Amino acid sequence: MSECLTTKFNDILFKNPVIPASGTFGFGREYEAFYDLAKLGGLCSKGLTLEPKAGNKGLRLWETPAGLMNSIGLENPGIDAFINNEWPHLKELDTVTIVNVGGKDEESYLTAIEKLNAIDIKLIELNISCPNVKAGGMAYGIKAETAADITKKVVEISRHPIMVKLSPNGEALVDIALACEAAGAQGISLINTLLGMAIDYKKKAAVFDNQYAGLSGPAVKPIALRMTHQVCQAVDIPVMAMGGISNWEDALEFIMAGATCIQVGTINFNNPMAPIDIIAGLEAYCVREKLDNIDQIRGII
Ligand SMILES: Cc1cc2nc3c(=O)[nH]c(=O)nc-3n(C[C@H](O)[C@H](O)[C@H](O)COP(=O)(O)O)c2cc1C
Repeated sequence: MSECLTTKFNDILFKNPVIPASGTFGFGREYEAFYDLAKLGGLCSKGLTLEPKAGNKGLRLWETPAGLMNSIGLENPGIDAFINNEWPHLKELDTVTIVNVGGKDEESYLTAIEKLNAIDIKLIELNISCPNVKAGGMAYGIKAETAADITKKVVEISRHPIMVKLSPNGEALVDIALACEAAGAQGISLINTLLGMAIDYKKKAAVFDNQYAGLSGPAVKPIALRMTHQVCQAVDIPVMAMGGISNWEDALEFIMAGATCIQVGTINFNNPMAPIDIIAGLEAYCVREKLDNIDQIRGII
């Protein structure tokens, strides 16, 4: 692989800026049947909580014309099981592991982060933006004050850099991003899913037990791109962007909007090879445009 896609996110070196998004890639094992995970810039774990979590009851996925709605509710095996069962495998891979962490209250976030101090991960993605859990999750991420408060506390106790994952559902996204930066975040990622609703008219009922659920996929791309641009213009820390990125052209647009790395989510379910196709497409673009490095077109808009 050529050097044209190597990307630095602060001082973390990624061999390319393409990373499968949290919750759409498990812990990578299923995708190893399709390709060598070492080809990826990195991977982002399913959202982990302190305790194992069964997730939401009822229907959890619903397709829309240009996207996917989910109400998974952070189903995951818990931090201890991750450290014992998944980390030994992930740490052997020649790619960057990002661990996505959720929580139901301050204490559960902090204890989870403390436990991760025991292992040598490169980056934590602090999920304060999950719309599918009643307590915690998005409740922290929709106001600058609460987002900054939890970020500050987490940064203080973590020996790993913290990238805060923002919600598109909150108040004044740029203010929230700036507040997280001021609180010590070393990166921002965005966007998590957009709160939506689906009704099954035949059943005369809401599709999801929680009524509302998170929309992702191509439908959200223009919104995610606009938000990426706004946040990149405002903050000095690097941004990892996502939301409907399905091919290399989409990825390039987010990089032109200022993103340092991009995450690939919902499209993994349609095309498991999507991250690899995106890497190949970006590489070919650099060659065609005679770019020594993708950095040269980052943030040009
Ligand atoms: C089925 C599913 C599960 C998800 N689980 C998580 C999660 O555990 N933690 C998290 O931060 N984001 C989660 N997300 C959000 C994605 O990481 C991503 O932010 C969002 O889907 C937008 O990107 P996309 O349009 O490329 O999918 C999930 C998304 C989907 C579709």
